[in-house]
Amino acid sequence: MSDGGHVWWEDAVGYEVYPRSFADADGDGVGDLPGLRSRLGYLADLGVDAIWLTPFYPSPLADGGYDVSDYCAVDPLLGTMADFDALVSGAAARQIRVIIDLVPNHCSSAHPLFRAALAAAPGSDERARFIFRDGRDNEQGPGGGQPPNNWPSQFGGSAWTRVTEADGHHQGPGQWYLHLFDTSQPDWNWHHPDVPALFEDVIRFWLDRGVAGLRVDVAHGIVKDPGLPDLTGPQPLNAPSAYRHRPELQPLFRSWRAILDSYPAEGFPGPRTAVGEVWYDVPETLAPYLRSGGLPQVFNFQLILAGWRAAEFRTAIDSALAVTGGSRAPWVIGTHDVARPASRYRLDEGFTPQTVSRLIALGDRNAEAGARRARAAALVLLALPGSAYIYQGEELGLPEVTGIPDDARQDPRFFRTKGEFPGRDGCRVPLPWSAAGTGFGFSRTGQGSCPAEPWLPQPADWGRYSVESQLADEHSTVNLYRSALRLRRDHPALGRGAPGRDALRWLGPDEGGLLCFAREPGFVLAANLGPAPVPLPAHRDVLLASGPVAGGSLPPDTAVWLGT
Ligand code: GLC
Repeated sequence: MSDGGHVWWEDAVGYEVYPRSFADADGDGVGDLPGLRSRLGYLADLGVDAIWLTPFYPSPLADGGYDVSDYCAVDPLLGTMADFDALVSGAAARQIRVIIDLVPNHCSSAHPLFRAALAAAPGSDERARFIFRDGRDNEQGPGGGQPPNNWPSQFGGSAWTRVTEADGHHQGPGQWYLHLFDTSQPDWNWHHPDVPALFEDVIRFWLDRGVAGLRVDVAHGIVKDPGLPDLTGPQPLNAPSAYRHRPELQPLFRSWRAILDSYPAEGFPGPRTAVGEVWYDVPETLAPYLRSGGLPQVFNFQLILAGWRAAEFRTAIDSALAVTGGSRAPWVIGTHDVARPASRYRLDEGFTPQTVSRLIALGDRNAEAGARRARAAALVLLALPGSAYIYQGEELGLPEVTGIPDDARQDPRFFRTKGEFPGRDGCRVPLPWSAAGTGFGFSRTGQGSCPAEPWLPQPADWGRYSVESQLADEHSTVNLYRSALRLRRDHPALGRGAPGRDALRWLGPDEGGLLCFAREPGFVLAANLGPAPVPLPAHRDVLLASGPVAGGSLPPDTAVWLGT
C-alpha cells in the first residue's frame, strides 16, 4: 500500500505536460509522445515524480484535445499506442509515473456516440446518453426557438446548440443539446447507465496499460440536475448548484476510487491515484470531495487566486491547509488554463478571467518584477506541506505570450467571446529547447530536413528562455527548480514533512511584506512580497535563494529556504 505508512502521492511533485507544446519528434511543428519520451531525461534531471499528461486522444482539437472523439486511442498527430506504452515504460525506468487526463463531462461532437445521437430521433436512447431537450417557445409563438434554459457556456454564449433534425419524421430546426463548454463538446448525461459504464471501461483500459492515475477534468460539473432549472441570482463557484458540486458526484468518485484501489501497484510502490479539477471560491468547497473513500486528491488553486501580498498568500495557505491538510490537494501556481506566473505576478492581484487582457494592456511594464516574483513563488510552492504540480515551462520562467496574432489563436474562449477574452493560448506556446534555430529546438528532425514552424508562434526572444541557455547558467530558473526539487527530496522537513509534526508554523507578524514559516526539523521559508527589504529571520545557513541575498536582509520579490 504505502512506503513506511506514507503514500507516494501525498508529497509527489507532478509535472503537467501539454503534449502538443512540449517537444516534437517528427518535425511537423506539433508536439507528440515520442518527443516527450525523448525528453524524459530532462524531466528526470529536473526531479519530478510524475507526469500529468493532458489529452492526447483522437480529437478535432476544437479545445486543445479536451474534445475527445475516442477515449481509448492515441491521436495519430501525437503518435501511436505503441508510443504511449513506450512512454509509460520509459518514464518508469526513470522513476516517473504517468497520470492521464480523464474528460468525463463531455466528448467531441465527432464522437461516434454523439453522431449516433444526432442521427437518432428525439426521445431515443441514443439521445438520452447526452442532454437533449426541446427548446422553449418564444414570444413569436411555439416552435422551440429559445434554448431550454438560461445556462451560459463557460467559454461564452449559451450552453445550448440547436440541431437540425433529419430523422425521417421531421426535417429542420429541432432539439437542443447542452454543452457547458464549446458547441463541439456535448455534455454526457451521467444519469444514463451507459455513461458510467463507458467511463469504467475507459478507466480500466488505461490502468491496464500501467498508468499511475487520472486527472479528472471538470470534476465539479459532470452531473447535472435532471430538471435543468434556470439559474437565478448570483452564481458563486462554491455553492452546489444545478451543475456544480452535486451530491451525486461523491458516490461516483467512490466507485472510481474502488477501481483504482483494486489495481495492484505496477512497477512502483503504492496505489493508483486520481486528482480532480474542482474550481471553487473558498477551499471549504473541496471538503465533500476529500471525504474518505472518494478521490484521493483535488487540486487547490489558492496560489493562483492569491494576489502578490503576504497577507493574501498566508490566508490562502491557511485556508487550504485547514480543509486539505496539504497532501490531499496539490499546490499549483499555474496550469494550461491560466496566465503564466512570470507574467501574472506583474500584477498585484490574483488570477481572474480578465488577467490576460490586463497583461496585454500593461505592455512591457513590470516584466522584471514578474520574473523575480515567479521564482520566489516557486520556492513558496515547493516548501509547502504536501504535493505540488509544475506546469511545463514554469521551470524556465516562461512568460505569458501576449502578442499572439488573432489569426493564430486557437482557444474557443477567444472565438466564443468574439475576442473579448484573448483566451489561454499564451500559456501554451511550444517550449524553447535550444537558443536558436527554427522553433528554438521544439521540433527535432533527421539530419538535413527542416522542421515546420511550431503550431503556435513563439516570440522572437524565446531562445533566452531555452533549456539550452538555462542549463549553461547556474543562476537560471531551471537550475533553481532543480536545486529546489533535490533539496525537497532530501530535507526531512520538506514534502510531507516529519510525521506527527504540525504542517507548518507561521513566524513573524501577519502584516507587512514578509511571508515566513517554519517546518520541522530545522527549516524556514522566508519570502518578501513587500516593496522594501526585510531582515532575514535567524538561521544557520541559506539553503537556496530565488535571487541575490546579502547583508542579512531579504530584498523585495525574493524568497529563501533557510536551515535553522
Ligand atoms: C478543463 C480543462 C480546460 C478545458 C475544459 C473543458 O477546465 O483544464 O483546458 O478547456 O476543462 O474540457
